[in-house]
Amino acid sequence: MAERRYTEQEEALEISSLRRIISAYMNYHDAAERDVKRYERSFKMLPPAHKELLFNLGLKYQRLRWCISMNASFIMNMLEAFEPPFDMSQDVDGDDHDCGENMHGHCHADCGHSVERGDCSRSSICMNNSELHEPDDCPSKDDKTRELSRESDNKDEAVDMEGCSQLLGDKLGSCHSVDKSCNGDKTVDAADNCQDTDCIACSADENATLQQCLPPSLPLNVPPVDVDKVRCIIRNIVRDWAQEGQKERDECYKPILDELNRLFPNRSKQRPPSCLVPGAGLGRLALEISTLGFISQGNEFSYYMMICSSFILNDTQEANEWTIYPWIHSNCNSLSDNDQLRPVSFPDIHPSSSGITEGFSMCAGDFVEVYNEESHESSWDAVVTCFFLDTAHNIVEYIEIISKVLKDGGVWINLGPLLYHFADSYGPDDDMSIELSLEDVKRVAYHYGFVMEVERMIDTTYTGNMKSMMQNWYRAAFWTMRKNASQSKAGKH
Ligand SMILES: C[S@@+](CC[C@H](N)C(=O)[O-])C[C@H]1O[C@@H](n2cnc3c(N)ncnc32)[C@H](O)[C@@H]1O
Repeated sequence: MAERRYTEQEEALEISSLRRIISAYMNYHDAAERDVKRYERSFKMLPPAHKELLFNLGLKYQRLRWCISMNASFIMNMLEAFEPPFDMSQDVDGDDHDCGENMHGHCHADCGHSVERGDCSRSSICMNNSELHEPDDCPSKDDKTRELSRESDNKDEAVDMEGCSQLLGDKLGSCHSVDKSCNGDKTVDAADNCQDTDCIACSADENATLQQCLPPSLPLNVPPVDVDKVRCIIRNIVRDWAQEGQKERDECYKPILDELNRLFPNRSKQRPPSCLVPGAGLGRLALEISTLGFISQGNEFSYYMMICSSFILNDTQEANEWTIYPWIHSNCNSLSDNDQLRPVSFPDIHPSSSGITEGFSMCAGDFVEVYNEESHESSWDAVVTCFFLDTAHNIVEYIEIISKVLKDGGVWINLGPLLYHFADSYGPDDDMSIELSLEDVKRVAYHYGFVMEVERMIDTTYTGNMKSMMQNWYRAAFWTMRKNASQSKAGKH
């Protein structure tokens, strides 16, 4: 496999993007602390009688600080494990925080579908795709593909994400190991027993250590939109990797898994069927498909997501190793403070012991750029899209590529709404956004040779807080279509 060479400019842009994302993660603690200070300022403005009535809020703010420290501690451990694909110590131009420039003109907040204050229903960040996907030295058949991988002694039991080390390269500059005393420790106290001063100290130490990994000029005061993205990731952890997300996974992932099971009844261990999962998020669906007996590849272009999924898939040692407090960032619609401050442990399963099928991988990069390559043509038995189709600038292009990568007779299983991510773009670049009705989406699919086999609507949430007084439901379209190349009208003009 030829080694992917980055131009200096490409590499500089990638480094800037990554720095921005690492900064956002590192800024998590400070941004959350600023929120608590704001609550405290409001509290101070209360007349004494009201303060007395709400004496419990003082304790709540202390508990919040404990929760923030726990979340920050998890984040710092995750960053410590992350091995960036570039030498992050080098000086590059363009380390500012102007969205459009630093993210190669593709920066997209993608939290536009927030349904609650401080609540993002989607999380993504666009990279300059060609740069992000290009492999350094990826063993994949596609030289545009870089796969996160991990060597494993026991191929049946560990997450084998081939090519990972090529993607990730050197470790963060001069990072030292991070104290795990605030998280990843079974003996952690509950938030209500917290010694908040200890925890704040722990988090501050970690911050100081990791900050050495970034150039001194890098401002840690990151834009609010980046802070939101980190909070979105925390909610995505619940969806994919916590027991609390099981109901949502049963709604979204189980129908897909049942369908794969039904459609591929005689899966051979020698020649397992292959399944591609574009927009794989934190990787749980791709992992579940792998444990069903498929060669499963998740594809994801957000470094926010990739950093986190890589940590969970490759670096967790046991089930429920980590504890986070995902719901602390919104004071709205809580039935009680305890609901808002409840802990969530993850991962609910130990990924490496979950019985994955050899060939499980996560491929970093833009779906359009990576899979439009000739090497992927007619190479997959199944494509699964879950809450992905509406991330397209041009959904027709997505469908065309899905058809192209499937073998003739292969199946496309989809579940999701049509909440087009770029529909409300106010960016200076005026992002393209083609927003079709479900009827038109199906018409386009038929044009590319798909035949509908199963179709229904499924009610579900996306990163929902099940204890919130506000619930947002999608009526998601679910279908199985089969590619029948002879039916395709594409290219027949
Ligand atoms: C709404 S999330 C769904 C994630 C996951 N499928 C799930 O159901 O939880 C959409 C995901 O697609 C990713 N994504 C968006 N556009 C993409 C693209 N062009 N190529 C690869 N991934 C993309 C986003 O980063 C995000 O993780």
